[in-house]
Amino acid sequence: MHETHTTYTLIDGRRVAAEIKKEITVRVQQRKAEGKKIPHLAIILVGDDGASQTYVDHKVKACKEVGFHYTLMRFADTITEERLLKHIDQVNTDPDVDGFIVQLPLPAHLSVENITEHIRPEKDVDGFTNRNFGSIVSKNPLLLPATPNGVMELLKRYNITTEGKHCVVVGASRLVGAPLSMMLAEHGRATVTVCHKYTRNLPEFTRQADILIVAVGKPGLITGDMVKEGAVVIDVGTTRVEGPQYKNGYTLKGDVDFVSVAPRCSMITPVPGGVGPMTIASLLLNTLRATELRHA
Ligand code: GUN
Repeated sequence: MHETHTTYTLIDGRRVAAEIKKEITVRVQQRKAEGKKIPHLAIILVGDDGASQTYVDHKVKACKEVGFHYTLMRFADTITEERLLKHIDQVNTDPDVDGFIVQLPLPAHLSVENITEHIRPEKDVDGFTNRNFGSIVSKNPLLLPATPNGVMELLKRYNITTEGKHCVVVGASRLVGAPLSMMLAEHGRATVTVCHKYTRNLPEFTRQADILIVAVGKPGLITGDMVKEGAVVIDVGTTRVEGPQYKNGYTLKGDVDFVSVAPRCSMITPVPGGVGPMTIASLLLNTLRATELRHA
């Protein structure tokens, strides 16, 4: 008979994010008392994608909570790339804006790479630019990719050590999987396996994970039979699933089939309330850092 983890610890990202926001609030108040610049985050939102609007609302609310200044810049989904790049130029040089983000996804006629690479790395608080991707392995890091750093911070605050452990990252995206696997290896000293859509026999790899991190965007991809007993499972997936049974007409679903996976885990993040709130906490931390870099 195998040992089974029918009792697992739920990793509460909301609680940790609230803790971090409290710490940021104190630092903002200190800056205010010392007459220093108050962090200012600008958010560029193109079009009216419902999910993006919700995420942006959460980011604005978080700025208000910690006492940051913020500006929401909205554009129609018909905006040309040239116009948007010009606007980014303006924000890049606006002395009052310490950091800014361009909310993704963008309409198909806009190149995500052209647009994110146009952001000044010192103001790139999502950590999307190639310079900040390089921050992960740099002796002179600027701003770390925000969502992956949020995951690292969540592990740290739950005392989940990664050194020498086998971390399996499912998903190799430019924004999450790829930078996160680098951070786990570089900063976390973990042995890292990266799986993606070309991986053959995914369960063979996921079953080896001491720490399984999934960032794909396919609800229910990971089922109980794919997880080792006692593993830590971090679910970065947040897919909006619509249905009349849900309040507001939709719900958020992770990549992990919670019902079959949770009983096998030692610890697991829920969706919502796991990694999502950490992404925002991490964005705020980067904005504070960007401010400190410019106005010590
Ligand atoms: N869309 C989904 N997640 C993110 C994020 O972390 N930053 C931005 N800018 N857009 C997103």
